[in-house]
Amino acid sequence: MIVASDSPSAERRPNLFRQPSLVALGARAQILGQHPLTVWLTGLSGSGKSTIAQTLECRLIDAGRACSVLDGDNLRHGLNCDLGFSPEARRENVRRVAEVARLMNDAGLIAIAALISPYAEDRAMARHIVGAEHYFETHLSADVDACERRDPKGLYAKARRGEISDFTGVNAPYEVPTDPAIVLATGSLSVERCVDALFAAVMARAAPSSPGSGMQP
Ligand code: ADX
Repeated sequence: MIVASDSPSAERRPNLFRQPSLVALGARAQILGQHPLTVWLTGLSGSGKSTIAQTLECRLIDAGRACSVLDGDNLRHGLNCDLGFSPEARRENVRRVAEVARLMNDAGLIAIAALISPYAEDRAMARHIVGAEHYFETHLSADVDACERRDPKGLYAKARRGEISDFTGVNAPYEVPTDPAIVLATGSLSVERCVDALFAAVMARAAPSSPGSGMQP
């Protein structure tokens, strides 16, 4: 059974008790000298999420930022190997990845999450779980035609032949983000141009003194 609920509330977990940390909130981030972010990459299959995530990760590491990628495809081999592609399963997928990203942020890291995450409501849940001050929604805006022309994994062709059901963009919906922090036109711009723009935006938001970081410069 898939439990597709929001963060568990105390009411629904009456016999569980939160154990407070002895380490001050933000102390780990202070050591790392950065404001932790969850850079949430959303877009169709083939829009370049994994490529952008990995390239951004290299750029951030080179710049001395502690970060790590949470790739939807990779996580579905382990943590999320029990999940399919129904709306409920995708919601659970998003919930788990957001919870892991939150833990990474608590540890001071910048998390780069690359998931189709096609439903606006699920992305709103992710924003809620990691906290608006950490959530940096990034829309990779390549449309179905562009992604299908590339079809790097041959999945659009399979979906068109009816060999994959619920395939996003073919026979399952993708709800375009209405208020992302940044839009990357990965259908027309090079990986370098897209990552340049994203890197600059993330570096600004991850600076200890950025608005809302709550950290002393
Ligand atoms: S999400 O919708 O739940 O966020 P996620 O990003 O984890 O999706 O996984 C998407 C990847 O699963 C795609 O890149 C593709 O390789 C693979 N995949 C297999 N079946 C489907 C499907 N029906 N719809 C979309 N992607 C699929």
